[in-house]
Amino acid sequence: MTPDHTYIESLKEHVGEEVTLRGWLYNKRSSKGLHFLVLRDGTGLCQCVVNEGEVDTASWRAAEEATQESSIELKGIVNADERQIGGFELQVRSAVLIHQAEEYPITPKEHGVDFLMNHRHLWLRSRRQWAILRIRNRVIMSIHEFFQSQGFLQTDAPILTGTAVEGTSTLFEMEYFGRSAYLTQSGQLHGEAMAMAFGKIYTFGPTFRAEKSKTRRHLTEFWMIEPEMAFYDLDAAMQLAEDMLSRIVSDALRDCAEELEVLNRDLEPLKRSIGNYPRVTYSEAVDILQSEKTAQMVADKIASLKQESLDNSKELSEGKAAYGQAKKWQKRKIDAREVEIQRRDSEIEEQLRNLPKWLESARNFEWGTDFGGSDETLITWHFDRPIIVHRFPAVFKAFYMKRDPEDDRLAMGMDVLAPEGYGEIVGGGERATDLAFLQDQVKAHGLPEEAFTWYFDLRRYGSVPHSGFGLGLERTVTWICGIHHLRETIPFARTLDRLYP
Ligand code: 4AD
Ligand code: MG
Repeated sequence: MTPDHTYIESLKEHVGEEVTLRGWLYNKRSSKGLHFLVLRDGTGLCQCVVNEGEVDTASWRAAEEATQESSIELKGIVNADERQIGGFELQVRSAVLIHQAEEYPITPKEHGVDFLMNHRHLWLRSRRQWAILRIRNRVIMSIHEFFQSQGFLQTDAPILTGTAVEGTSTLFEMEYFGRSAYLTQSGQLHGEAMAMAFGKIYTFGPTFRAEKSKTRRHLTEFWMIEPEMAFYDLDAAMQLAEDMLSRIVSDALRDCAEELEVLNRDLEPLKRSIGNYPRVTYSEAVDILQSEKTAQMVADKIASLKQESLDNSKELSEGKAAYGQAKKWQKRKIDAREVEIQRRDSEIEEQLRNLPKWLESARNFEWGTDFGGSDETLITWHFDRPIIVHRFPAVFKAFYMKRDPEDDRLAMGMDVLAPEGYGEIVGGGERATDLAFLQDQVKAHGLPEEAFTWYFDLRRYGSVPHSGFGLGLERTVTWICGIHHLRETIPFARTLDRLYP
């Protein structure tokens, strides 16, 4: 078979012509003498009408035997039709069943997340996953386009390393020809060497953290984009992060309208997230966290979630009442809505369980400790766009951070927190440049000095002020998509309890 067929996304160029579509049967409705086959080919969906009077018997049989997710080839004439999904319809002339699928395990009915994740290799075919992973692709392209247009060189850091970058507690250790090696937690240190060679660079690669926590923000394998710039101070790095994110958001709004609609994404918060990100110091963020306004926001949130849950159960029982009388297509709609509501309800339940705990820990927050995920969520509720928190207490930050010349307790770090409760998507800052200071820090953090000999060289031969940051790809895509959990933003998620499929 040669790929001489037409893709659904390019049907607009073939109105009135005969084309061949190839793909999988997404959905089928039949009535006397007619099959309405919704074909899925990865680029979109298209309804294909098979009329018994217009095709030969073999084609009619193929349409009849096609089950959900069977692979099929359809030849026909393209009609523009605003009312149809995707805006086009195929009037079928002939059909070939390539493979008849067995009974498909994923049905429109509700499946638990565990079931879906165990069937991830098939779940990827759903419309929701189509939308999410296409947005991921757009974000990746935006990142490359942004950095390439700004004169950055894309370089790669090694994945197998001899040292920790971001603390020793989340290292994946492996046996490496008789000694220890680790999967990299961050390409930063090697990125710094490359910035000293090439000026402005970025890495784009997988990173690994043995995260023992099961949260909606943690993967053990995730993708990080790490720009590193010679002669940039903290302010310049913050501006670069803002410009990069603004570019990502505006490209997604422009090019992923259909995908965002499939996900029911509220576009207003995204539209506001282009430019003008407030800068907030750590100390200011602590004040915000402990404010009366935070307590009020939590109370309001609890009330609105309870209301939403009531509205949902009302809609569910209305759906049940109408089900008996409903037509087949209405039943499908009710089923789909039920799945949506059940997903949302379990999120609401989780949030209602968590919110009082979050408030409690916000109230007891102590200056000098790191924000947890819930603290970040509460802080972001006070803003309508991403914010950049900077100048953290050095005690909980990495060894390589430059100290604030005006307050030695502070490190020149920065985090970008995404709005709507999403929290940290970028972490970085200005790097220490002084050799003796860094040597002390490596010791103080209990890291093996010999492993950093090469890194110290960067402060021996033309040390310059420099900065950089890491953008977590999956967390960013989670926010752009407006979805709850990051596990759906990577084709095959790796978490504490998942290595299959
Ligand atoms: O804040 P982090 O730990 O920063 C660094 O690794 C720096 N060395 C980066 C640099 O300056 N070049 O991680 C950066 C980002 C986080 O903001 C988050 O978006 C993402 O990486 N991240 C994770 N994403 C998914 N799962 C995890 N377990 C993650 N840990 C960090
Ligand atoms: Mg961080």
